[in-house]
Amino acid sequence: MHTQIFTITGTNADAESLSQAADIIAQGGLVAFPTETVYGLGANGLNAQAVQNIFTAKGRPLDNPVILHIADYNQLYTLVRSISATAERLITEYWPGPLTLLFPKSSLVPDVVTAGLDSVAIRMPNHPIATEFITLAGCPVAAPSANRSGKPSPTQAAHVVDDLFGSIDAIIDGGEVAIGIESTVLDVTQSTPQLLRPGAVTKEQLEALIGTVTEVRHSNVPRAPGMKYKHYAPTAQVVVVDSQHALHAALAMHASATVRVLSYPNAELMAHQLFRDFRECDAQGVQVIIVEAVPEDHLGAAVMNRLLKASRKE
Ligand code: TXA
Ligand code: MG
Repeated sequence: MHTQIFTITGTNADAESLSQAADIIAQGGLVAFPTETVYGLGANGLNAQAVQNIFTAKGRPLDNPVILHIADYNQLYTLVRSISATAERLITEYWPGPLTLLFPKSSLVPDVVTAGLDSVAIRMPNHPIATEFITLAGCPVAAPSANRSGKPSPTQAAHVVDDLFGSIDAIIDGGEVAIGIESTVLDVTQSTPQLLRPGAVTKEQLEALIGTVTEVRHSNVPRAPGMKYKHYAPTAQVVVVDSQHALHAALAMHASATVRVLSYPNAELMAHQLFRDFRECDAQGVQVIIVEAVPEDHLGAAVMNRLLKASRKE
């Protein structure tokens, strides 16, 4: 398959590029696009066959549901059966933004989107290109991260090219993303909201607004179907260290391997660069990536979640 690349340049040509990309969605094709979190691989979320093709292109297991991306509130009402008071407050405060919410799905949403679940995940991205693209497509855009399944999420168009060029119809190149890790996923269909995936809207921020939020730890009975799959992993082995002592021990242990040490001054920069650095290490044939931990609160909780998943060997 030929993959078209639309580069957004900040000129008048952008409108034409985005309308061509949106036409591809309307016709059932697959287009990768930037959001503020990571790049998504989009399809018309109401076209079951198009959504099915996302799974094929990514090599994604069919039991892992995808998020519907919307650009205006009117779209939301057609996709859900109800909106709780808690959901209303979160939407008012954090949409558009890196917060995905679960709702009871309406009959309009194809089963392939939700992997047969009764709930649908919806997000309104905060990125001008994503907003314009979704608006022009005229439908909710189903989109997982635009990586091959199991690889780190793409934070720039070149990462999408590496993973999916030749397997999808088009890529909108809107430069590097702002945040660098995927959105917070919150289940507000339960009486106590459950954090299914930590992200840039932090647990602390959520609890300040809506009270106690329970957190789903890794278990054999995953609440978010995606939780049971290894994620965000480079080919290299990832070792996490939380002290200088542990760093020296890890360096000694891997003395005969090609090693790279990654260290970040804070969680924001770690979120912004971690996935890109993973990909760079793989491209350079690094065998062991040693990463210095950051404190596990606020955004640190989200980025450490990705790091620890990448370091798990199963
Ligand atoms: O920032 C993001 O969320 C990016 C951008 C493109 O929006 N998207 C993204 O999608 O990370 P994906 O498919 O890579 O991750 C979505 C997560 C998965 O863990 C999936 O299992 C969970 O959300 N999920 C989606 N729908 C769900 C549902 N109905 N119930 C429970 N979990 C759901
Ligand atoms: Mg993903």
